[in-house]
Amino acid sequence: MEKTFMMVKPDGVQRNLIGDITSRFEKKGFQLVGAKLMQIPTSLAEEHYGEHKEKPFFGELVEFITSGPVFAMVWEGEDVIATARNMMGATKPAEAAPGTIRGDYGVIVGKNIIHGSDSPESAEREIGLFFNSEELVDYQKND
Ligand code: CMP
Repeated sequence: MEKTFMMVKPDGVQRNLIGDITSRFEKKGFQLVGAKLMQIPTSLAEEHYGEHKEKPFFGELVEFITSGPVFAMVWEGEDVIATARNMMGATKPAEAAPGTIRGDYGVIVGKNIIHGSDSPESAEREIGLFFNSEELVDYQKND
């Protein structure tokens, strides 16, 4: 079954949106297979956002994501990567449709509440950066 990495960013945690966000994915029908509240070290932030290294906002991005706790999650389900991206909404909150997480709660692109993997390759890489395999549960084992 497909897995994706998502995290509630420091702005979302500070605004008490963890419950609302996890509730949306639970109600949609996805399963939470890993989760932790954590403070991201700068080295991990730089690695996670490595593809944006040359962007003018890279420093700002790393500074923001390390500025407070994030809620890191792994979700599982059919087509969870693309579906979760749709539920998050466009990166720029101004372009995110109402009903999406960023459309409902965000205003600023640098503080857009949530991150989600954009492809199977990113999901595998990002899950590996944030979680050990022992930190992920396997619901099938309990069937
Ligand atoms: P995310 O999906 O976490 O991946 C990269 C992040 O870069 C993106 O969400 C935005 O929060 C951030 N970002 C994109 N464009 C800008 C920008 N112009 N200024 C600051 N941050 C940005």
